[in-house]
Amino acid sequence: MRLVAGIDSSTQSCKIVIRDAATGALVRSGAATHPDGTEVSPHAWWDAFLQAAEQAGGLDDVAAAAVGGQQHGMVALDAEGEVIRDALLWNDTRSAAAAEALIVEHGGAEHGRAAWAQMIGSVPVASLTVTKLRWLADAEPENAQRVAAVALPHDWLTWKISGSSTLEDLVTDRSEASGTGYYDTAAGAYRYDLLAQALRISEDAAARIILPRVAGPNEQVGTGDDARGWGGMLLGPGAGDNAAASLGIGMGTGDVSISIGTSGVVAAVSPTPIQDSSGLIAGFASATGEYLPLAVTLNGSRVLDGAARMLGVDHQRLSELALAAEPGAHGLTLVPYLEGERTPNLPHATGSFVGLSLDSMNPQDVARAAVEGLLCGLADGLQALTQQGVPVNSIQLIGGAARSAAVQQIAPAIFGRDVQIPEPGEYVADGAARQAAWVLSGTEGPPQWTSSAVTAVTAEPTPFVRERYASRRHLFAEQG
Ligand code: XUL
Repeated sequence: MRLVAGIDSSTQSCKIVIRDAATGALVRSGAATHPDGTEVSPHAWWDAFLQAAEQAGGLDDVAAAAVGGQQHGMVALDAEGEVIRDALLWNDTRSAAAAEALIVEHGGAEHGRAAWAQMIGSVPVASLTVTKLRWLADAEPENAQRVAAVALPHDWLTWKISGSSTLEDLVTDRSEASGTGYYDTAAGAYRYDLLAQALRISEDAAARIILPRVAGPNEQVGTGDDARGWGGMLLGPGAGDNAAASLGIGMGTGDVSISIGTSGVVAAVSPTPIQDSSGLIAGFASATGEYLPLAVTLNGSRVLDGAARMLGVDHQRLSELALAAEPGAHGLTLVPYLEGERTPNLPHATGSFVGLSLDSMNPQDVARAAVEGLLCGLADGLQALTQQGVPVNSIQLIGGAARSAAVQQIAPAIFGRDVQIPEPGEYVADGAARQAAWVLSGTEGPPQWTSSAVTAVTAEPTPFVRERYASRRHLFAEQG
């Protein structure tokens, strides 16, 4: 049996699955947590990776590995390959003003949005690396001047696993490059002019900055570090977590995944690039050579964490309370912009309960409003995707919060469509493992592993909940 390892270096933890390359059967696994916060030392990811690998029984017998990682972020490296400062993560909103500035510099807000959508496939928001580089240039110019290479979290981890300290060996894939803000996703080429704009340097200087080479979806990009006994382990290019998850659950055209982890992500596989100048849809690439347009909310599973904490209950009880309430929570709406919001782009907004009355001021309705508010934000993302002409034939609900019975049962009511719930799994790590098996096999497409059992959930649609949410969500638009 040949083994492959899939690594998920996500916001909150590092998870590793080791699977049989031929069948996909799970052989071993391990996990270790990452520090909290939106600014993290990449060395903490490395330590967590080593810990998770040890828990998974080591990698010495693994034939190929690939890393899926939290998208975006900024890992700035100096000429010696050292990390210049802690990485800013995708959910760090300090670069919100930089995002606005980068847009406006292209002929004003409206023209700028259209220009960016056309240049790279997305309109910059604080998550994108390009905005973090502008923030660095303005807030920490002495650090910005030392930048010799810029990687994303997964690129950096793949490089570390390879044991290289040569900047030219940095490698990424299309899914990650498409989330930087300086990569033309449709054309498949870096835009050094945009890198120059972000760092306020000349294009010549920007061209000297090393950006990870963009590898093909099943390209072998190197081997593991020989000094650690991983020399026989082939490395795949890896992918952003959303692209890896879509490979993990085997999505094709017309399939949509709604993933509720730290972020809430509505993603679809599209054969053609999407360029949405409204900015609701980010026109990213997939891990399989296609495109993965997606809408991302900053407020995912932590909306439920917060609601449970507020009610003094655990997640099981929160779910029971929400299901005991009537649809619509007696008029109560939670607009869950608890950490600001990205879709819609309101980085400084806060959340609100609207419509409290003596009828709704009870634990059941508060719990219901939390679940409905979370799902309404995602339903808006789904609608934005369909408005871009992306086909939606089926919806799979994944991510930690998809394990909540309330989320599973209320989702079809809010989305107005059935949802499929695959068995809980580590889909990002699985997608990375599948990519590793693809690299190993050298076949044209990824290996056909048996997909997990899926449960279909249906519910009576409750469009009035979304309509009310839409009317109340707008109350906050100006405050963002
Ligand atoms: C996608 C995004 C998040 C992170 C979470 O654009 O920012 O989904 O990838 O890890």
